[in-house]
Amino acid sequence: MVRLDGAPKVRGEAAYLGDRAVPGLLHGVVLRSPHPHALIRRLDTRRASVMRGVRAVITAADVPETRYGIYIKDATVFARHRVRFAGEAVAAVAADTLEAARAAVAAIEVDYEPVPAVFNAEDALRDDAPLVHPEWEQYDAAPILVRLGNRSTRGVIRVGNVEEGFAKSFRIFEHRFTTAKVHAGYTEPRGAIGFWDDDGSCTVWSSTQLPFAVQETLADAVGLPSSKVRVVATTLGGGFGGKLTVGVEHHAVLLARSARAPVKVVSTVEEELTSSLPRQPAIVDVKTGVDRDGRILAKQGRIILDTGAFSGSGPQTASSCTNTLHGPYNIPNVLLEGVSVYTNNITTGAFRAPSGPIGNFACESQMDIIADSLGIDPLELRLRNIFHEGDKGPSGAVLAAVGLEECLLRAADAIGWNERRPGKDRGKGIACGWWMTTGMTSEVDVTLHRDGRVVLNSGAVEIGTGALTGAAQVLADDLGVAAEQVTVIGGDTRDSPYDYGAQGSRTTFCVGNACKNAAVEMRRALAIMAAPVLGVAPDVIELRDAAAHGDGRSIPFAELLGDEGVKVRGVFTAPAVPHEASRLENHMSPAWHAPSFHAHAVDLSVDEDTGDVTVHRYVVAQDVGFAINPTYVEGQIEGGAVQGIGQALFEEIVSRDGIVQNPNLTDYKMPTMQDVPTVETILVQYPTAHGPSGAKGVGEPPCIEPPATIANAIAAATGARVPTLPMTAERICAARGQIEA
Ligand code: MOS
Repeated sequence: MVRLDGAPKVRGEAAYLGDRAVPGLLHGVVLRSPHPHALIRRLDTRRASVMRGVRAVITAADVPETRYGIYIKDATVFARHRVRFAGEAVAAVAADTLEAARAAVAAIEVDYEPVPAVFNAEDALRDDAPLVHPEWEQYDAAPILVRLGNRSTRGVIRVGNVEEGFAKSFRIFEHRFTTAKVHAGYTEPRGAIGFWDDDGSCTVWSSTQLPFAVQETLADAVGLPSSKVRVVATTLGGGFGGKLTVGVEHHAVLLARSARAPVKVVSTVEEELTSSLPRQPAIVDVKTGVDRDGRILAKQGRIILDTGAFSGSGPQTASSCTNTLHGPYNIPNVLLEGVSVYTNNITTGAFRAPSGPIGNFACESQMDIIADSLGIDPLELRLRNIFHEGDKGPSGAVLAAVGLEECLLRAADAIGWNERRPGKDRGKGIACGWWMTTGMTSEVDVTLHRDGRVVLNSGAVEIGTGALTGAAQVLADDLGVAAEQVTVIGGDTRDSPYDYGAQGSRTTFCVGNACKNAAVEMRRALAIMAAPVLGVAPDVIELRDAAAHGDGRSIPFAELLGDEGVKVRGVFTAPAVPHEASRLENHMSPAWHAPSFHAHAVDLSVDEDTGDVTVHRYVVAQDVGFAINPTYVEGQIEGGAVQGIGQALFEEIVSRDGIVQNPNLTDYKMPTMQDVPTVETILVQYPTAHGPSGAKGVGEPPCIEPPATIANAIAAATGARVPTLPMTAERICAARGQIEA
């Protein structure tokens, strides 16, 4: 099956945001704060405004005094009176050329008065910490949040009684793990072209995963009702969660309004690494009690998520992290809390499996520590504790289609688990986990034309995974046409039906289910048309081979349909997942749709002198429910594993006192082909009753387990445990006692 969006991308014909131009297009550049926390005493744009080629200079004084945000409306288009992180937007310029815009930005005069700042999330929770948002109580916020000063929320999951569980335990293990701020690493930077239309509405072309979410946020940011904001998603050069919310769209649109011309704003690499939405760094404390056989009796823990200057997606991610820290295990007594905290560090947001690698690194590193100290094989320890069909997850939701045991056994078998330490400084590691398939609503409009072609209009964006090809395959199957006959259009808030968007491993699952519902409508419509022609009852009509069949007779769509074809809508809204609300307090990720299960295994060596890690083999066994398109599923798993290897070994946005030290792709180290082995994939298929053909979400999970898997292998190879991500050569040498930490 050739990918429907593939050919133009391979040929270099696909027009990404940066490739687009329109007559009279201006270029926008944003002035950003050099200070992590300061009051703006003077902001003077007069000199910049009169420079050659400059068409607009705007600051907070020129834009609506509104706030926006996902869970807390704490953000503004430009800093007002106070900057809260080094990288926050202070002003913007539109000019005829990029060079002129940059020169004008440099000519804007700002006097800052630095004020006390806080950079450590634990410090930020103290009573005497400087407040990142002194006015936090005035902000609009989701009612589920429990906010206090720098704490933007706290979500808790409580099962049984952990004190009793610890009292009964044979051994208790307590550890702290820390994880890094990592960039989503999409190839295409965030970009937008803003248009201010003469009827007082606006349009933005955007490199976004979620046109409908950007529409809502943009409406707040620019002070228009959302009906007057149109968002058109352009061909997306990757997103991985980093393009879920407004990035530069508001700047482009508001510059366009002032300049009375379309304005393009594209982030530089430096802006990507200082003012985008990387994964939140975290501090994870976890205490686990086990019996003599390694059965987990109690787990208590706290995740502190540093969201930086704005809360972003942090409140929800903190709750999710209780599930990933819990792990895919049966635990009778649980008390886990996820806390999100403001600091004066750079902003953060969602990144592929938000919270996944954080909670999993802690959970699965500790499982190996427990196994080693009890003298139980780490695979065996996991098998004694894992979820099976019918078990309850931490929120009390009953689990179905659980392929975890098979994932573990097949990953272990593939890596040759019987020989865990195959040589000096060489070791193997294993880790497992679980993850959600996000639900919410997807709508599709499907038109069947008389030439047998089908147009699938979806508000979801093809993020680069092939997920919409997967949905088109589902649709084509049910309509009895070839998938190549389907043309996918959409991603436009004016012309497409609503979709919650390309996020959360949901596109094939939710859009696919909407396609199935559209196919039901289409069959009904065609049956009514074909039944009288064929002289049969409508309920015997079947669709296959681009024709309606009934009672041994058939009529091709081409003869049945007029020029207008037939248009139907399919809607899917994921039902709520039953769970026990009494286990939850202010928890924002209570129960997961069609959860997926996975196990990873690695074979690696650690250089005895330098601490450099060489990954020899990497195996992923993932329960995908059903692989609608095995090639794309494998592609997701390979890419996710590589991204996870980057988070394990190399990647970190390093800040000192709020200033990013490595805002470039030389010093921010993403893995290259030289750093990663071929990823071996094993597709395990326990079909969910809820997905199209049993498919579960696939895209996010593969980046969850690599940090723990690799940590466990490093420990097997060297005897040294690294509790900090990334596990750089220096940290490995320090853990081995070769250098000072
Ligand atoms: Mo994702 S982090 O929901 O794109």
